[in-house]
Amino acid sequence: MRTRCSFLIPRRRFMSSLLSLLTICVVLYVYSLNYVSEPSPPPDVFNDVQTVHKYEISCSAIYDMDPVEVGKSLIMRRKEAVEDTDQSLVNLTANCSLFIQSRGYDDVCVSEEEKDFPIAYSLVVHKSAWMVERLIKALYSPSNVYCIHYDQKSPPQFIAAMEGMARCLPNVFIASKRESVFYASISRLKADLHCLSDLLRSEVQWKYVINLCGQDFPLKSNIELVSELKKLDGANMLETSRPTDYKKERFTFHYELATVSYEYNKLPVKTQQVKEPPPHGIEMFIGNAYFVLSREFIVFMDNSEVVRDFLSWSEDTYSPDEHFWATLVRMKGVPGEVPRSHPDVTDLKSKTRLVKWQYLEDNLYPPCTGGHVRSVCIYGAAELRWLLHYGHWFANKFDPKVDPIIIQCLEEKLEEKLKIFRSAASSSCRKG
Ligand SMILES: *[C@@H]1O[C@H](CO)[C@@H](O)[C@H](O)[C@H]1NC(C)=O
Ligand SMILES: *[C@@H]1O[C@H](CO)[C@@H](O)[C@H](O)[C@H]1NC(C)=O
Repeated sequence: MRTRCSFLIPRRRFMSSLLSLLTICVVLYVYSLNYVSEPSPPPDVFNDVQTVHKYEISCSAIYDMDPVEVGKSLIMRRKEAVEDTDQSLVNLTANCSLFIQSRGYDDVCVSEEEKDFPIAYSLVVHKSAWMVERLIKALYSPSNVYCIHYDQKSPPQFIAAMEGMARCLPNVFIASKRESVFYASISRLKADLHCLSDLLRSEVQWKYVINLCGQDFPLKSNIELVSELKKLDGANMLETSRPTDYKKERFTFHYELATVSYEYNKLPVKTQQVKEPPPHGIEMFIGNAYFVLSREFIVFMDNSEVVRDFLSWSEDTYSPDEHFWATLVRMKGVPGEVPRSHPDVTDLKSKTRLVKWQYLEDNLYPPCTGGHVRSVCIYGAAELRWLLHYGHWFANKFDPKVDPIIIQCLEEKLEEKLKIFRSAASSSCRKG
């Protein structure tokens, strides 16, 4: 809000008029300062719009580990958990201006630093539409670009909700090619590759790309991520280690996608057939599916025959996403190279993704307060402070069915941090 005080006033009453005008100006100015610095509550009009369910809890008290509030969160997650349906996001995105206003996408204020440093995201998702929306919202900046790859097997409401978001937000789009993603198969890797290829062709001149899945959540706000990425100075950041003999089996044997009876409907299964060594004398490294990669690296990949050959060689390996990136960044001469002679970069050294493994709890970190799935912690509210202070950029896993409070409180804390950082970073904060 900007106010100007330049009127033409008759000479006689000049002084008194000037004084009263000045007073009005000061009042307006003070009012406008308050208006900018106070988080403006969403207008009443949106009160009965169905968005994500908000729980009555004090996140500051949770952050301070107040036992009463933490106890309250435990009861809430058991007794009051409300499921946000995919259909309600489909309904909301049917009216884009309502979606944008009720979720505050029009109220994002961007500093110069952020505007000059666009980030691209590749989101490989398959369920819980609202969690995807909240992930995007928590990382949202009009200067960034977001590619959503949804699974061909996803329910129609989920797909409709993703399409709805892409229709409403100009910098969110759906991957032009989509896979049916099967756990540990090449399809998981291809999903990211489809997004990367589309992102390269986007008009946004992003500097880095980060991939995320639907159960991730950021621990840092966009402006903090920008400052961390600048420090990388063109380097890539991801886990890349020498494989153990056990892990080597994943790419020394031919694997076949087979229908299995348990949890996953299809899984790559090992055969006795030994594979040829990797093409072009590539030396194998192993890591995980998640990366922070520079634009230069992706441009290089896009044009490299070696990378293409390596990808087709990887087709019949187990969980190729876990060695593809880790190996490529160690290749001689690639932009942002991690030299082969350098020691292992473990997942604790690479700050991209914090995953709490059940067997390391009490040893490396405090116990999980949510639940576990396949030995991985689904975070609970009591881990809020620990998560925010650990130093990693993102954490995995979150699930509103296990603990909705931790997600709500992370959102609140990130919003708070963002406001503080942005007001410190630049005075010319523009709404985008
Ligand atoms: C979505 O909209 C339809 C049609 O207006 C309505 O019948 C349905 O109850 C809504 N569903 C949700 C979950 O909001
Ligand atoms: C969409 O939402 C806006 C409020 O932002 C409302 O004024 C408008 O009437 C809605 N449009 C439709 C077609 O319902």
